[in-house]
Amino acid sequence: DSGEASLEGFDHYMLKEIYEQPESIRNAMRGRLDDENATAVFGGLNLTPQQLRCVERIILTGCGTSWHSALVGEYLIEDVARIPVSVEYASELRYRNPPIENNTLVFGITQSGETADTLAALRETKRKGHRTLAICNVVGSSIAQAADGGVYLHAGPEIGVASTKAYTSQCCVLAMLALYFGRLRHVSFESGKRIIDELRQLPAAVQQALSCDEQVRDVAKKYQNASTVLYLGRQYNFPTALEGALKLKEISYIHAEGYPAAEMKHGPIALVDEQTPSVFIIPRGTTYDKVMANMEEVKARGGPVIALASRDDPQVESLADDVIHVPQVPGFTQPIVNVIPLQLLSYHIALLRGCDVDKPRNLAKSVTVE
Ligand code: G6P
Repeated sequence: DSGEASLEGFDHYMLKEIYEQPESIRNAMRGRLDDENATAVFGGLNLTPQQLRCVERIILTGCGTSWHSALVGEYLIEDVARIPVSVEYASELRYRNPPIENNTLVFGITQSGETADTLAALRETKRKGHRTLAICNVVGSSIAQAADGGVYLHAGPEIGVASTKAYTSQCCVLAMLALYFGRLRHVSFESGKRIIDELRQLPAAVQQALSCDEQVRDVAKKYQNASTVLYLGRQYNFPTALEGALKLKEISYIHAEGYPAAEMKHGPIALVDEQTPSVFIIPRGTTYDKVMANMEEVKARGGPVIALASRDDPQVESLADDVIHVPQVPGFTQPIVNVIPLQLLSYHIALLRGCDVDKPRNLAKSVTVE
């Protein structure tokens, strides 16, 4: 219902929502960072710390962009809290009937809280006796009522069909949950404090990432007529590659694929030619050298390269055709920062191609049928 939100001077809801992200992330964190105990607090989990301490496996399920945030959650929770995580497409989970161990906690992740498959997957696991929680944006939505408890995103209404601010808020909530679960186990007070400090820097980093808009617009002009675009990243940047590709597909109708950068040589590299750009997400960090090698492989085959990279990186500057600078942040918050230029890239390309950004063809904001 767009009656609840106005464009406030922006040309499209999607652009407005992209620009709201410093604020929506702040709202996701408001009142949830507990400095005294170096942990996160949630009011609506409806489970005791004792019960949550016993969780031995977590299932994260959702559809579309929410499924991508689940992938980010997998890295986060395994990395920080050391709890094994499975990510499931809700549409598959509901019919696959996998054996689920005792002490498994199931999260349904959904902006709307109304996606039929996510709701059904959650209900099915609940019926089998597992504890279920929702991560959703819309207060009082069907999933919020169906789950045992949950966490609201507080992102405000998201009108653009292509999800932007809900996604970064989902990632942010998952980071706080990882901290919370970690602090129930082995994460020290000191490490908890460091994570909180790094989370607090997020709104400013996202604000800084938004300043690449001009740069991104130029890149969009150059590549607006591509018929296929590849998105490549590793570790925390792999889900970002998937999400960047999905954003482009959804609103510009350009074929795009996201891959873990190293998987490229097992197939997608066959698509590379002078007309097929590859977007590499390559900030400084652990797999930097490996992704650089993948980038060289693409260049050697004549493929144009757009790099999302840290500032002052002469190696990237000399190899890539176009560089978009992203702020330097720790690995676990990179998904939230690095997706911003990719949201803008798809927005500008769609606009240049004359597409209906807020209401792309064939798509619905919330899919309430199977
Ligand atoms: C639809 C929307 C997507 C969204 C997906 C899941 O397909 O077009 O943008 O990611 O549903 O929506 P949810 O509300 O469950 O996050």
